[in-house]
Order: sequence, then structure tokens, then C-alpha cells
Amino acid sequence: LGVFSDIINRVSLEELSRATAKPVLQTEPDYPTLNSLVVVASKAMDLLEGKQTRSALKTGVIAGSIAKMMGLSNRDVASVVYAALLHDIGLARLVSEIYPHLPADYSEKQLFQDHALLNARVISQPAALSASSTLQHLLQQHPLYTKVFLEDVNLSYDVISLIEAHHELCDGSGYPFGLTGDQIPLGAKILAFADVIESILETIIKDSSSLVSRKHALQSFMDIKAPGKFDTEVVQVFSSLIESNEEFLRLLHTLELENMLKALLPEREALLSGEDLLTFLSTLGELSDSTMVLYKQGRSRTVARLAANLANEIEIPKKQQGELYLAGLIMDVGHLATPAALLMKTEALTLEERLIIQNHPLHTVEIFKGLPGLDNAVLWASEHHERLNGKGYPGQKKGPEISIGGRLLALADVFEALTTKRPFRNYCFEPMDALPVMGQGRQTLYDSELVNVLKTVIFNQTLPTAF
Ligand SMILES: [Fe+2]
Ligand SMILES: [Fe+2]
Repeated sequence: LGVFSDIINRVSLEELSRATAKPVLQTEPDYPTLNSLVVVASKAMDLLEGKQTRSALKTGVIAGSIAKMMGLSNRDVASVVYAALLHDIGLARLVSEIYPHLPADYSEKQLFQDHALLNARVISQPAALSASSTLQHLLQQHPLYTKVFLEDVNLSYDVISLIEAHHELCDGSGYPFGLTGDQIPLGAKILAFADVIESILETIIKDSSSLVSRKHALQSFMDIKAPGKFDTEVVQVFSSLIESNEEFLRLLHTLELENMLKALLPEREALLSGEDLLTFLSTLGELSDSTMVLYKQGRSRTVARLAANLANEIEIPKKQQGELYLAGLIMDVGHLATPAALLMKTEALTLEERLIIQNHPLHTVEIFKGLPGLDNAVLWASEHHERLNGKGYPGQKKGPEISIGGRLLALADVFEALTTKRPFRNYCFEPMDALPVMGQGRQTLYDSELVNVLKTVIFNQTLPTAF
């Protein structure tokens, strides 16, 4: 039955996390590698920071290319690239703490975009950040939050040690520890520099500017701002890279970027165990849950379990039950792109705000599309807000256009929503009271037969103890 049956067997076990992984068949071709999952997480990080979904890939290629030119081993190059792809992902777990301190006209996404440039003093401190020492302090904790994420997904220590120091500067003016020169690992120095270069390319130099002017702007940063803060050799290597390789800066903005990245990551193309995949995707799900500050935490896992239980009840093949579980974990990861203020808004949303929120399934697709073995999960996740009458989103799919997986996820999602509190209502339903509410939507919103299945599942109390 393949690796997904391995997962679903564990879904039915209450102690999901304690289960022992079985080795994955190395012949299984249709299965994510660690590299592909890290790339997926980097896209989630980009959306969290309000960037395009290939920004972190650029940081990875810039950092990895410098590391390679400096003669680091293949393994160390790969560690630098991994760290570059994930360095800011911990910001998600800070959203709930940052949000109350943000002025109305300055979103957390703006703050996140500014933070690499602020560190290198390429831009001046925005008033919001100068005024609030709390905000400043919180922001400076994010390398430690990323470290926790990397520990949660079991990445190796050589990557984690670089993450901790990715905002340290040679003159001691960086954070969180204020390390100087020799105290900072070389990989972290490379990453700190690549982070700023990518931010300059993305936010200061416009895409439309010519290669000559891009090169000029980067060179003047390296001549004027970088000395003292960044490692001299790192700066020199990058400077000679863009001097000697005319194509480098141009290719960063083309589809060649993926191949450049691949060439830097040969070492870790290992297939994952079912447990590693599950851990990685549920940690990503948790990450987006944590940005939905006033929602009940752990909701992606609750929805995933309920959907898988429904699928089990109608005897969908085990492999697909596993895929549905994964779909439940990832379906709202696209919400990392939604500004916190919208998710927490208690007044009615404007049309524009509603559209931003309704884009989240599309962002989920953007993040996870092409991940080997997850085609069904991504399709079903994309349909979790579609409704039978065509009034759902984002595709306004109708009746038979919506897959069974999408229908099951919709039911599980709405049931979880009704039985937990939301920022815009301070009450919620008991499970037994939520059923008739959902029953009102049978045929128009939800599949009638599946609503009956939901009832059976709830009545039989086959639900996890969370309910
Ligand atoms: Fe950072
Ligand atoms: Fe959703």
C-alpha cells in the first residue's frame, strides 16, 4: 500500500507522534525528498514575509554560490543553502506577539520585509520600530524561533547552528547575541550577507532596472555599507562572482534558478520516511495555525484527523485516506500570506479584504504544487472552500466538479470552525449542536450523504479526544 498507508495506520492511532517509522522503500519514485520539502517550506516563508515565492530560492543560490567559491565541502554548502531557504520561517510563531504592537499603517509583512535591510542599515529604522522597544526585541528573537522549527522537523545541527547567527554582524551590532568576527560561523556570515543582497535585489532595486544598474547598486552597497559589518572575504567573493560571471544576476530572475539550486544540493536527495514527511507537513500546518492567533491552535491536525475519519467511514482506499490527512494538514498553509490584521478583524470585511482571504487556497497550491506524491492532497486542499452551489471559492466549482476529497475536507473544516471560537464571534457550538447547523447546508453547500456520514462519525464518537 506504500508509504501513505503507513501514515494512515498511524492516523488511526491516537499517539501519532510516538509511532515508529518504518523505512521507506527506496524504489518508491513518487515521494518527496527532503530537498523538495525544504523548497516548499521556503515558499511558505516567502509568503509569510510578503514576498514572491521564489525569493528564498535566490537567497539560497546566492549563499550557496559564495560558499562553493570559498571552497566549503559539499555538505557544508548544502547546509548553508538549507539555512538560507528557511532562515526566517520562525517569524510565523512571532506573529501573535508582534501583532498587538504594530501601528495601523505598518503590517507585520512590511516589518518582515524591512528586517534584513534594517540590520545592514541599508534603510533607516521605520518610526514604528524606533518607537517600540518591545517590537524591536520581539523581532530580534526570530532566529531562535526558526531554530525551534528546524528542531521540530529534525534538521541536522549544522543547519541549526547557522540559523541562530544569521543576523549577527562582524562589528558586534547584530542580534540576538551580538557576536563579533570570529565568533560567527562562516556559513552564518555568508547567509547574513546573502540575505541582505537578496533583500536589496527584491525591495530596493526594481526588477525593471538593467543588469548594469543592479550590479552598480550592489557594488555600491558592498563598497559603502558592507565594510566592518560583513566578512571581507565573503564580500570579495561575491563581488568577483558578479564581475566574472555576467550571467549570474540575470539567471537569478529566470527559471534557471531551480537548476542552480539543484546543483548546490546534491548531498541530501534522500527519500524521507513516512514519519518525517508527516512531521514536516504537520509542523508547517502548525506554523500557519500559529498565525491565526485567536483561533484554536492545532486546528490543521484536528481537521486532518476528522477528514481522514470520514474517509475511513466510507471506506475510501487507505492510501487516499493518508493523502486526505496530508491535505488537511496543508490546506491553510496559504494563510501565511494573509496579513494578521485580516484574520483577526472583528468587523465586516471589505470586498478587497475578502478577496485577499479567499486567495489562501491558491497560495496553498502555489506552495505545494509539484511536490512528488502530493498531487491528490494539493487538489483536495485547493477545494476545501468550494461549495456544491458554486458559491464557494476560489474556483466557484459546482457539484460534480468538486472532488470527494474536497467535499470531505470542507465538512471537516466547517465542523471544526463551528465548534471552536472565532475572532468575529465569541460563542461556538457543541459538536451535537453543530450537526443540525451543517444539516441546513446539505445539498446547497455540502454533500448530503457525507453530512450523514459526519453525523455517524460524531455519534459513534470515533473522534479524537480533542472533541
Ligand atoms: Fe532573519
Ligand atoms: Fe481555509
